[in-house]
Amino acid sequence: MRVLIAKDYEKISREAAQIVYELVRRKPNCVLGLATGSTPLGLYRELVKMHKEEGLDFSNVKTFNLDEYYGLSPEHPQSYRYFMNENLFKGLNIKMENTMVPDGSVKIGELEQYCRRYEELIKQAGGIDLQVLGIGGDGHIAFNEPGSSLGSRTRLVALDENTIEDNSRFFDSSADVPRFALSMGVATILEAKEIIFLATGAKKADVVAKALEGPVTSMITASALQLHPKVTAILDEDASDSLSRVAFYRFAADAEQKAGARLF
Ligand code: GLP
Repeated sequence: MRVLIAKDYEKISREAAQIVYELVRRKPNCVLGLATGSTPLGLYRELVKMHKEEGLDFSNVKTFNLDEYYGLSPEHPQSYRYFMNENLFKGLNIKMENTMVPDGSVKIGELEQYCRRYEELIKQAGGIDLQVLGIGGDGHIAFNEPGSSLGSRTRLVALDENTIEDNSRFFDSSADVPRFALSMGVATILEAKEIIFLATGAKKADVVAKALEGPVTSMITASALQLHPKVTAILDEDASDSLSRVAFYRFAADAEQKAGARLF
């Protein structure tokens, strides 16, 4: 895994945006996997800037989001669809029909079929070229809470109490946070051709160390990223504080510059 430790949030966001930029330039009809949460907001701001100032063209790009609260309609201001429209899609020249976010208002009886279809759409698009990921306080990626099978696919999941508490900052109270979500599975995520994993802040340090350097376990679903051949973890100094191999990561990042190649 490439582990890059950046000085501050702006650098992290720019580093991540650069990877997306190169992909979109190289493959204008690429498929991006996108995440919500506060961590990727800087990356999204950078992408909007790259579109506006450098003409980065998203007109043939397709996107698939990781997850959505179950029970919230796409128009709900706390829905992930609304978040993506406001924080990214509106600022790009992407076609809205090319942006996929799981629909949290699908009827319960239709969910299984709906989730299977979501997976099929990813396959039909040629698979996800680059997946952006954050990490939840309990080590989740997307909404794959501790105990989620590492072989899981897109499905309805129950949210952990910690996640409800963490995410209550976006709602009026924790009672308003939905208890369920639709989420890509761990196995779905691992099929992406490349992954960018972003984490910031001291609160994430211990869980980031478990994810990157601990055993692969369904109790920290982000640890499954160790099974993927092409992951770039981009962290700020606070989030990297509990890692045991920081000196090596810095050395490898330096070596990359000299080699002029990315070292996974
Ligand atoms: C939610 C999302 C995750 C995201 C996490 C972290 O739980 N489902 O995809 O990684 O929030 O959010 P933040 O970046 O705000 O810490």
